[in-house]
Amino acid sequence: MNRYNLSDQKATSWLNRAEICVSFIQRDIQTREAERVDVADLGCGDEKLERLLASRLSRVSYQGYDIIPQSRRVIALDLNRDELPRHYDFITVLGVSEYIDDLRGFLVKMAGSADRLIISHVISDAGVYDGEALTRLGWRNHLSKDQLLSLLAECGWEVLDSYLEPIEKRTFLVIARSRAG
Ligand SMILES: C[S@@+](CC[C@H](N)C(=O)[O-])C[C@H]1O[C@@H](n2cnc3c(N)ncnc32)[C@H](O)[C@@H]1O
Repeated sequence: MNRYNLSDQKATSWLNRAEICVSFIQRDIQTREAERVDVADLGCGDEKLERLLASRLSRVSYQGYDIIPQSRRVIALDLNRDELPRHYDFITVLGVSEYIDDLRGFLVKMAGSADRLIISHVISDAGVYDGEALTRLGWRNHLSKDQLLSLLAECGWEVLDSYLEPIEKRTFLVIARSRAG
């Protein structure tokens, strides 16, 4: 199961990424005094985010989407082609932005599909991946931190907060608010 790097899906770094995502959601709903959370997890993999959300938040509704559903709860959807069936409070995109063919088009579309976006990206600033590595990984996008922040702004997202994993400084997460709403 190594398509989309899925053989690593139990790695601590992936769990840590999901933990940061949940802490972004917790802070955001506290700030807004929102009572419930409605999350679409795009490219959800093994739905680890659902388990974490359920353990941290009392009122959460979660739906996973993936091109390769790993359980019957997950809705099959190709982010390169298909539309989300409805609007969500939060869209989470963890470990997926690297694989999307038209990241700009996707981000523009998502700005009309959710109030908040939490996206991770393995940034190029650390200089770890050369062209050969990107081909091996099947990554279509490998942006710098500044390139990702600019792209989000151009696509209708206002960045609220961000996090750079402090040891390897490769995994960057952003929570952003849609300017469409
Ligand atoms: C690196 S894994 C991350 C999984 C999960 N988000 C996590 O953090 O554990 C990438 C996931 O994106 C999914 N994926 C890749 N391309 C996709 C596409 N075009 N549409 C929907 N899902 C996609 C893969 O099937 C895989 O589950």
